[in-house]
Amino acid sequence: MPDAPAAPAAPSRKLLFAFVVAALAAVAFAVMWLFGNISERKAEAKASFVRLAEMTEETVDPSVWGRNFPRQYDSYRRTVDVERTKHGGSEAFQKLDDDPRWKELFKGYAFGVDYREERGHAYMLSDQDMTERVKNFKQPGSCLHCHASVVPAYRKKGVEAGAPAGPEHAREQLMKGFEVVCAMPYGEARKLVDHPITCLDCHDPATMALRVTRPGFLDGIAAFAASDDAAHHMPSVERWRKGSRAQPYDPNESASRQEMRSFVCGQCHVEYYFAGEKKRVTYPWHKGLKAEQIEAYYDEVGWKDWKHGISGAATLKAQHPEFETWSQGIHARSGVSCADCHMPYKREGAMKVSDHHVRSPLLNAARACQVCHHETDEEMKTRVETIQDRTRALMTRAEDATLDLVHEIEAAAKDGTSEADLAKPRAMHRKAQWRLDFVAAENSMGFHAPQETARILGEAIDYARQGHADAIRARAAKR
Ligand code: HEC
Ligand code: HEC
Ligand code: HEC
Ligand code: HEC
Ligand code: HEC
Repeated sequence: MPDAPAAPAAPSRKLLFAFVVAALAAVAFAVMWLFGNISERKAEAKASFVRLAEMTEETVDPSVWGRNFPRQYDSYRRTVDVERTKHGGSEAFQKLDDDPRWKELFKGYAFGVDYREERGHAYMLSDQDMTERVKNFKQPGSCLHCHASVVPAYRKKGVEAGAPAGPEHAREQLMKGFEVVCAMPYGEARKLVDHPITCLDCHDPATMALRVTRPGFLDGIAAFAASDDAAHHMPSVERWRKGSRAQPYDPNESASRQEMRSFVCGQCHVEYYFAGEKKRVTYPWHKGLKAEQIEAYYDEVGWKDWKHGISGAATLKAQHPEFETWSQGIHARSGVSCADCHMPYKREGAMKVSDHHVRSPLLNAARACQVCHHETDEEMKTRVETIQDRTRALMTRAEDATLDLVHEIEAAAKDGTSEADLAKPRAMHRKAQWRLDFVAAENSMGFHAPQETARILGEAIDYARQGHADAIRARAAKR
């Protein structure tokens, strides 16, 4: 056996001793540091939930809530920021100048006059006051449902209209007042509110739990729960469907925290119309959340938004169907909520805070995406823009196809083609325009559900070309 090199025993033992001492000191230090850190964290967590200011159901002013929750308030206030991305962002440019095809596509309707890119939450009330669609057209109080902190006004009007007083009747007051305010002229209703969205709209002031306050969503999601459409990753809806169904589905009773992280946004980022004489804000989800299911509902109730100024078709206007589109995508299916991407956590000191600077996630991709995707910031942006560029290209084709149809109907009508023969091309115009607008009005340019968006645009092009061929045939037969 070869001799092992003789170890110089004494110095090695000294070294070992010194090492052990150093190691023990390091451990002791680490323990002390960790303990200090934990108690500091606890103190900070406690401090931020100590009530420095009283918040009630009447506290619309977010600065009062801000005294208790300064971090969330500071980021909430940053929704005034203006920064553009390739297909989105917060600069309120005029969409009609950006793509003049829409001046013709919206001919005869208020949207053909003023239609802008949306921007931060801080502007929602002032932008509504300023739009030509309010200044030059008669609008109802319904508009405020999604543009103001309107809950206290609803409750007050509800009591005045006969709903029982007291906190235990809050829901009846809310629903009653909602009906009253929707039916008022915009100018009258506007006097009842003075703030854009605030803390109260998404949080219970007593517990800070998330909650849904918008009657339109409460009615809409209950109607959706009762439909046959699949509810991707809405486990509480699925549970309700399997249950007795004695009471309508109520998100505030049943939804999980993760569902609420999308439902609070679905309060407003949805397709809607104003039903009946009383202009009740209604989410048309009675047959499901997909574009053609919403269309089927509108067909059934005989709804049109306006008579198209060129084709004479009974056209529909789609409005920001973010919730509906998201619900068809892989992220919703995987249980990823709106807040995961639009309100990601950030660290402030030792605290984890939800970023209340709600904005394009592309301005914040590192935090918005990298929790789950381990690619670089640049790579995530490129993936999004690839989807968006493809959507934009297909959308342009759908716009051209729909306009070809519109112009062919116009020409056929000028040639004296009968109303009966124009009925089918006009029906095709309604279908094509609804699908095209469903994508155009959705604000992610396809990202929220890329394949679903392409499917809808494919159908839009098909209906437009079918209608175009019908119109050519009708016109030729007339000659
Ligand atoms: C997986 C991440 C993700 C989820 C989940 C998600 N979004 Fe988005 N959202 C995006 C991205 C990316 C964009 C594109 C931003 C851009 O083009 O600048 C976007 C765009 C938007 C925009 C337009 C923003 C702008 O700056 O123009 C709105 C509004 C929006 N989303 C709302 C929602 C709502 C409401 C939900 C839930 C129903 C939701 N999003 C779910 C990632 C997400
Ligand atoms: C169901 C909720 C909801 C209702 C009701 C609603 N809005 Fe909005 N509105 C939104 C959302 C969400 C956005 C941001 C997304 C977008 O612009 O597509 C928005 C954006 C806007 C904008 C800025 C962009 C643009 O279109 O020029 C204006 C102005 C506006 N709404 C006016 C109105 C008016 C007027 C009414 C009543 C006829 C109304 N809104 C009713 C939810 C709503
Ligand atoms: C559009 C809805 C919305 C509005 C408006 C809103 N929040 Fe939040 N808030 C959320 C969501 C979503 C979360 C994440 C909650 C969760 O995951 O349980 C959250 C979380 C919080 C939390 C818990 C700690 C954290 O950061 O996750 C506090 C505190 C809070 N918000 C305070 C406020 C204050 C103060 C305001 C008004 C200045 C406000 N919020 C306005 C949606 C909103
Ligand atoms: C009370 C209705 C309401 C609720 C609730 C609401 N939004 Fe909005 N949101 C709007 C309106 C209205 C605008 C457009 C404001 C404007 O253009 O003046 C908007 C704008 C946005 C934008 C564009 C911001 C930008 O910088 O361009 C994003 C992104 C967005 N909302 C996401 C969300 C998410 C995510 C939630 C839920 C956490 C949510 N919103 C909850 C009404 C709402
Ligand atoms: C909470 C986790 C989570 C977050 C946050 C998240 N994603 Fe995802 N993403 C997923 C999951 C899960 C899938 C489905 C694929 C899978 O299961 O591997 C997915 C799929 C995708 C896909 C493929 C989509 C498709 O239709 O095939 C893209 C692109 C993507 N994510 C981009 C983003 C971007 C951009 C962001 C940030 C704005 C983001 N994701 C944020 C979890 C997340």
